[in-house]
Amino acid sequence: MVYVFDHPLIQHKLTLMRDVNTGTKEFRELLKEISMLMVYEVTRDLPTEEVEVQTPICVTKSRVLAGKKIGIVPILRAGLGMVDGVANLIPAAKIGHIGLYRDPETHEPVEYYCKLPADSENRELIVLDPMLATGGSASAAITFIKQRGCKNIRLVNLIAAPEGIERVQKDHPDVNIYVAACDERLNEHAYIVPGLGDAGDRLFGTK
Ligand code: PRP
Ligand code: URA
Repeated sequence: MVYVFDHPLIQHKLTLMRDVNTGTKEFRELLKEISMLMVYEVTRDLPTEEVEVQTPICVTKSRVLAGKKIGIVPILRAGLGMVDGVANLIPAAKIGHIGLYRDPETHEPVEYYCKLPADSENRELIVLDPMLATGGSASAAITFIKQRGCKNIRLVNLIAAPEGIERVQKDHPDVNIYVAACDERLNEHAYIVPGLGDAGDRLFGTK
C-alpha cells in the first residue's frame, strides 16, 4: 500500500522545502516538523490495550500502546533529518542506522554502514529517507534489514518518484510506503522532478 499525506500543514511545509531559496536551517526545521506530522499518521494502526489508571479523581480504564516495540532506521545521510521528529513522538524507540550512497555514475546504492538495534527482529521498524528516487537505496536498505530477520517494516519518504514506488513495491510487496508527495518523474541524473534537489546537501549545507 502507498499512503500519500495531503494534510494542509504537510503540503505547506513541503512547498517551503522545495523552494530553492530556503536555507539549511529552515530546511532542517521543516523536515523535522513534517516527519513529526507524518509519523502521527504512519502509526495510526498500531495496536493498543486497555489498562487501569488512577487519575486524581478516580480509577479508570484507558488505552496504551501494545504489541511490538518500535525501531527507527534512517538511511544516511538525509534520513537523519527525519529522526528527531519521529523520536519526539516515540521517545522509547531504538534507533538503527544504514549508510548508503548512490554511485553518481551508475545510480546504484553502495552500502558503507549498518548498525541495527540488537532486538530489531522483534520490532516494528520505520525506515526513514526523504527521497525515494529510483528506489535502489530504499530497496537495498530494506533487504539488509530483512537479512537480519526483521519482518515488520514501514518506509517513510517525503517525496517519491513513481519509479521508486514501483521498485519498492516490486522488491518488497509486504512493505507499506508513506509519502508526503508523489512527484512526476526522474530526470537524466535520476533526480526527482520537481523534487527539492539533493536532500542530503540541503540538509547539511554541503553544496
Ligand atoms: C539520496 C536520498 C536517498 C537516495 C535516493 O541519498 O537521501 O537515500 O539518494 O535515491 P534512489 O532512490 O535513487 O536510491 P544520497 O545517495 O544522495 O546520499 P546522501 O543522503 O548521503 O546525500
Ligand atoms: N536524492 C536526492 O537527494 N534527491 C533526488 O531528487 C534524488 C535522489
